[in-house]
Amino acid sequence: MRPETRIIQVSKGFRMALLIAGTISLVAGVLAWFQLKREERIDLEDQDRRAHMLSHQLTETVLQAIRQSDEEAAKIILSPQLGGHRRLVGFAVFSSDGRRIAAGKDMLDFTEPMVPLVKQALAGSPEPITTFRSPDASVHLLATRLTDEGGNLRGVLVAVHDISHLDERAANRQTQFIFAIVLVFFLLLTMVVAINWAAYERPLNNLAEWMRRLRTENAPEAPPTGLPGTLLSGETQRLAASFRAARSTAAADSRTTIHDHNVWTRERLRAQAVDCLAGGQLVVVSNREPYMHQLRDGKPVAIVPAGGLVTALDPVLQACGGLWVAHGAGDADRQTSDAKGRLTVPPGDERYTLKRIWLSKDEEQGYYYGLSNEGMWPVCHLAHERPIFRSEDWEHYVAVNRKFATAILEEIGSGDAMVLVQDYHLALVPEMLKAVRPEIRVGIFWHIPWPNPESFRICPWRAQILKGILGADLIGFHLQQYCNNFLDTVDRMVEARLDWDHFAVEFQGHRSEVRPFPISIESWAERSVPTGEALAEQIRHLKELHKIENCEIIVGVDRIDYTKGLPERLRAIGRFFEKYPQHRGKVTYLQLGAPSRTHIRRYRDLIVELESLADQINWKFQTDDWKPIRFLASHHDASTVHAFMQMSSVCLVSSLHDGMNLVAKEYVAAKTDGNGMLVLSEFAGAARELSDALVINPYDIEQFADAIRFAVEMSPDDRRVQMGRMRQIVEEGNVYKWAASFLTELAATRSTNVRSSGQFQVQKELSTKS
Ligand code: F6P
Repeated sequence: MRPETRIIQVSKGFRMALLIAGTISLVAGVLAWFQLKREERIDLEDQDRRAHMLSHQLTETVLQAIRQSDEEAAKIILSPQLGGHRRLVGFAVFSSDGRRIAAGKDMLDFTEPMVPLVKQALAGSPEPITTFRSPDASVHLLATRLTDEGGNLRGVLVAVHDISHLDERAANRQTQFIFAIVLVFFLLLTMVVAINWAAYERPLNNLAEWMRRLRTENAPEAPPTGLPGTLLSGETQRLAASFRAARSTAAADSRTTIHDHNVWTRERLRAQAVDCLAGGQLVVVSNREPYMHQLRDGKPVAIVPAGGLVTALDPVLQACGGLWVAHGAGDADRQTSDAKGRLTVPPGDERYTLKRIWLSKDEEQGYYYGLSNEGMWPVCHLAHERPIFRSEDWEHYVAVNRKFATAILEEIGSGDAMVLVQDYHLALVPEMLKAVRPEIRVGIFWHIPWPNPESFRICPWRAQILKGILGADLIGFHLQQYCNNFLDTVDRMVEARLDWDHFAVEFQGHRSEVRPFPISIESWAERSVPTGEALAEQIRHLKELHKIENCEIIVGVDRIDYTKGLPERLRAIGRFFEKYPQHRGKVTYLQLGAPSRTHIRRYRDLIVELESLADQINWKFQTDDWKPIRFLASHHDASTVHAFMQMSSVCLVSSLHDGMNLVAKEYVAAKTDGNGMLVLSEFAGAARELSDALVINPYDIEQFADAIRFAVEMSPDDRRVQMGRMRQIVEEGNVYKWAASFLTELAATRSTNVRSSGQFQVQKELSTKS
């Protein structure tokens, strides 16, 4: 399940809890408000009664007093004997014509409420009452008519009581009620969230996770228990049963057709993988991740990094399901993964799990840029670039390899698994895995060339790297020549027994088979690229955008890397226009270059060198409405690459040294009409299979320029014949076949292939760690 989805679910549950707790608290609040008002009323009624009783007690005395002169009357009325009652502020007495006869000392403060009250009493109202609140006082006023025995009105007595204690009591009650309601609200909220999580979210999340594992990893266990509703539980069991039945029927069908067809498909690979895995988990591990999330305008966007490894392995995992462990290098990778760095991919069509490994800047610098790309990469490619080996890079390389191994071991737990380690970044991982779990199958595929022993021996850590690789049960290279070089290197650098007849190495009691597996691609039809009218429209748009509407297009698609022979290629293009001026204005070379490893100075310098070379050639030959070279140095998605390949009539691949080069195969696969020609370096692994291409030596600029001319001038019919043969090779030797052969060979490696424990220092380190 994607983390965003989980966030949405949590907030939905939370919103529901808020609604329930809010509604109940609101109703309780309204009831509490009525109760408060009622209690205030009761308090006041009580006060009315007390004021009333007091007035009646005093009536007789006051009547007698007002029969005297006003002065005498005031003396009697204000004498201390009449005061002294609890909370009584004082009296005021008025004559029957409304004249004030006597008033206690603070009574003048209450003239404002008293005057209308006295008027009401004089007008006949028997005992009018009011309350009065000012910043200094809260009082209760009761006016009593004073009548003699004959019933004649003699005056009005006003009694004023302090009621600030009633206000205080009301305020206290209010605070208690508010506190109680807030408490009820939060208790309810917590209860509803907890009940919702326990009864719905957790079981449904478990169900979703189980369904994902059923779909992507063919999870064998029973559906999760505790689902809400017995119906759902029953249906889930039935769904799982039918799903497994359908899958095993498909697998059986596919097994029966496996030998009837030449072409490997996703389904056929899936069936083969199920057989090879025998219930175990498929784990791919590489430095580069298949989907990287980058922030674009503040939002995470998934991009597919350029490079042969991802091109080849993503379809395999899409077909088989499983787990891919890789370095999370995108700036939005963390926010798109869960707490364990996991997410399901491809985005929108989730088929397998990607687990991202987080590296610090120093680790990335030392392990990836340093040892891997400034050391191992130039050692393995004969491109005359001097390797740089720094001991601090090596330390990071060992530590990061251990980090990957630990993460894989954690992921597979005690279950069975087949681990496919990819490439020169992770050479130590096979040995580290086997040291802890000798019984799991581990294969390593080396995506770049393996050099001759003389070249490799300059690496200061050659023995450690070889030992690391020799931890694998199966070691794969693109070409037989690289297998030969590897065995030669092992022979010269470690104490191992070589079995040249079977191409295997026995090292410290463990046997590793060494085999060539020429890697390949999946067909464009299986990638969601536009076809038909949508493709025609895309091509029209791209041609207009790059002002190449009226030209024949030669295309080149590469990561910008010094092994790709890009300066040589531009020079050959320049020479072609120089030597064959008839093509000026009619042919344009379009270079799609994905910037790569740009923290390394050599790679940055290369971009500058290429831009300046393209500039020089353009300056020399361009006209007002034509440029010989368009250099587009940016990342291009698969759909754009496909469209450029489709619109071009020639593709140039000029690697100085390349393990395979999948662009060559992608071009062949893209030319569905067969009207295209591939000019291909003899130093790319692909040249061994695609011998119908125009094979060149990229260092020989004259020959290269002539090959370009030949390709441009070839008749469509001739192109179709040669392209047809190459298409068949790519179609039959697709990436599903590559993966199936690797898995089959790995499954066939001997199960006794285990090293005795204690032989590896690394084993101890990993065990202590875990
Ligand atoms: O094919 C060799 C390789 O290093 C792959 O591992 C990788 O996919 C590709 O080149 C691109 O290189 P990077 O991962 O360094 O961008």
